[in-house]
Amino acid sequence: MTDNRTASPSSGVDPNTPSIARVYDFFLNGKDNFAADRELAEQVLKVAPNARATARANRNFLVRATESVAKAGIKQFVDAGTGVPTSPNVHEVAQRINPDARVAYIDNDPIVLVHARALLAGVRSDVVAIEGDLREATAVLDHPHLRAHVDFAQPVAFLLVAMLHLLTDEDGPDLLVKAIRERMAPGSYLILSHLWDDPEGVARAGAEKYADRRASAPVVPRTTEQILRFFDGFELVEPGLVHLDEWRPTEGMINAGADDRFGLCAVGRKP
Ligand SMILES: C[S@@+](CC[C@H](N)C(=O)[O-])C[C@H]1O[C@@H](n2cnc3c(N)ncnc32)[C@H](O)[C@@H]1O
Repeated sequence: MTDNRTASPSSGVDPNTPSIARVYDFFLNGKDNFAADRELAEQVLKVAPNARATARANRNFLVRATESVAKAGIKQFVDAGTGVPTSPNVHEVAQRINPDARVAYIDNDPIVLVHARALLAGVRSDVVAIEGDLREATAVLDHPHLRAHVDFAQPVAFLLVAMLHLLTDEDGPDLLVKAIRERMAPGSYLILSHLWDDPEGVARAGAEKYADRRASAPVVPRTTEQILRFFDGFELVEPGLVHLDEWRPTEGMINAGADDRFGLCAVGRKP
């Protein structure tokens, strides 16, 4: 469990408001969560018992997609909506394939930044952690630390993994993706996963629990058509937009199969 030092007022961490990052950490069996986060997670599990399987499948998609674009030659990564560090992190996956890969992490949750900076502090120059709110697309994308670290004139992979469903339509997720696409060089990739508005309404029932408990961000499941629209201007690489475990499954992968029907994902390439 997270200790009181991490929750000190100076860190900006509020232990009483359930945090999206800490609830997700709980689903992944992490230790960086408080009672308020665990109570919300338990409420979600009552209406969406597969939330843990979905979180794990989502994380595994992030790893496979990062490996895939690294193998395609990408050496710059922006992981926006990073989450509490979870092994393997994007820089570990990318650098196994391209040792000189550079990674920028962006998040607005203080606990994510506390951990990311502790993990990276003084250790490396190829990875940075930047505080930014993705509702303010221009401010984040033109942040001087991001600009100093990532050369958008060269191909980049931009990860929005389990992130856009934390933005309402009014927050402008479509404008964020458009701003990212406009800055990207041809040959860049968008790696995206999103909570699916399943026909049975399970994801919506889970989302209501976040609203009831006034979590740090809303949760907005979207339909297949709405999620596909985020890829306007990109070419989807094989196998297109699919459920999490269906994206280039590896041999021996533990398949959540029919249990995991709550996330859709895809990788798009800017032509
Ligand atoms: C569900 S976690 C996903 C973590 C990671 N991308 C993954 O898929 O394993 C979503 C992350 O997005 C962050 N987040 C939510 N709203 C955000 C915003 N407006 N700006 C920046 N980060 C945000 C949360 O703090 C959390 O760390």
